Amino acid sequence: MSTNLTTTTTPHGDSTGRPTAADLDRADPLRHYRDAFIGTDDASVRGYLDGNSLGRPLKALVPVMTAFLEQQWGDRLIRGWDEGWMRLPETLGDRIAAATLGAAAGQTVVADSTTVSLYKLIRAALTARPDRSEIVIDRGNFPTDRFVVEGIAAETGASIRWIDTDASTGVRLDDVAAVLGPQSAVLVLSHVAYRSGHVADVPAITTLAHDHGALVLWDLCHSAGSIPIELDAWGVDLATGCTYKYLNGGPGSPAFLYVSSALQDAATQPIWGWMGDRRPFEMAQGYEPAAGIRSFVSGTPPIMGMLAMQSMLDLIEEVGIDAIRAKSLALTGFAIEQYDEKLAPLGVTLSTPRDGAVRGSHITIDHPSFKALVAELWESGLIPDFRPPAGIRLGLSPLSTSFAEVETVIDAIRQSLASPAPAR
Ligand SMILES: Cc1ncc(COP(=O)(O)O)c(C=O)c1O
Repeated sequence: MSTNLTTTTTPHGDSTGRPTAADLDRADPLRHYRDAFIGTDDASVRGYLDGNSLGRPLKALVPVMTAFLEQQWGDRLIRGWDEGWMRLPETLGDRIAAATLGAAAGQTVVADSTTVSLYKLIRAALTARPDRSEIVIDRGNFPTDRFVVEGIAAETGASIRWIDTDASTGVRLDDVAAVLGPQSAVLVLSHVAYRSGHVADVPAITTLAHDHGALVLWDLCHSAGSIPIELDAWGVDLATGCTYKYLNGGPGSPAFLYVSSALQDAATQPIWGWMGDRRPFEMAQGYEPAAGIRSFVSGTPPIMGMLAMQSMLDLIEEVGIDAIRAKSLALTGFAIEQYDEKLAPLGVTLSTPRDGAVRGSHITIDHPSFKALVAELWESGLIPDFRPPAGIRLGLSPLSTSFAEVETVIDAIRQSLASPAPAR
């Protein structure tokens, strides 16, 4: 797989004629954006390859945070609720929808964690399919998705149908077709597999589920902000995703949640709170849901947790999701070339697809020594993550990761495998 990146300068290449990491960084049309992030010039962190867990903060956030403290919270005090905070779940949701989800306004809110959003959306899907009793999910899905489904099954009596997937291919159309049935109410899948980075065929799987009369809920944690998404055009019913990965919202920033307009009247979420009521300050008796997507909000929105992602959205809107995807593919393509040359000969395996069309923004490699090795890497300022049983994930954030960081981490892994420490 060759690295395909629009260049602005001519790479020089190594002895094999292939561009080096330094060449690729020089030629990267988005290279200047790396300077927009705090810590990219910190010499003690020589490689941060975990933006798929927690994206870096932007420098622009420092004045944004200060202004929020001094001018909004500090000065406007409780008046801030009437001056914008109250509607922030919807206004920010609409912005995320336009910049990253391919969704029209009025279908997205930012409010709770991904876990709580999954709970609300799956329960809402069951209310929209009252004559059906099954939730369908794959065994390779992220633990919280599976646990929420198991909890809902225990709570409601719904049954679970499991899809068995090959960890290296992710969920395929045939896997889903083999399990969907006349009782299937909702199918819960991830767009990008958290283990291998495989990208599922959202439009085809969504159409298949609809042909069976089922709704589909997509977990977009690993795709929002890194891969173009077209929720409206693909006919998706429900979706949710984190904002602390490629939307750089910071630790614990709230998730977004999407319910298609077509479904909003039929789907009722289960956590009825005053912020989703149509008249929150009348202190009325009896819950009456607000119109539209607002009814999916329950309690007071975490306003401070929504600040950082707004600065990242400024950047995403400026660069455009297609250019971000091109850089992501160039980074993962380069990482795979480096893997082939330096790690495959040492017995390291790769579970990420080589085909860029079905590859997300991280690559996953494995070796029996990796659990111990990651602790060593972290100590030396090289930061990927380790997720058993998949192995090391190298998460490549398109706007903040350099090709040099990828090479530095892969060289360190090679060096360590070639001369193992006695304790490992
Ligand atoms: C695919 C996926 N779903 C869900 C989550 C986490 O959910 P929450 O934001 O509730 O912790 C993660 C976290 O990494 C994830 O990768």
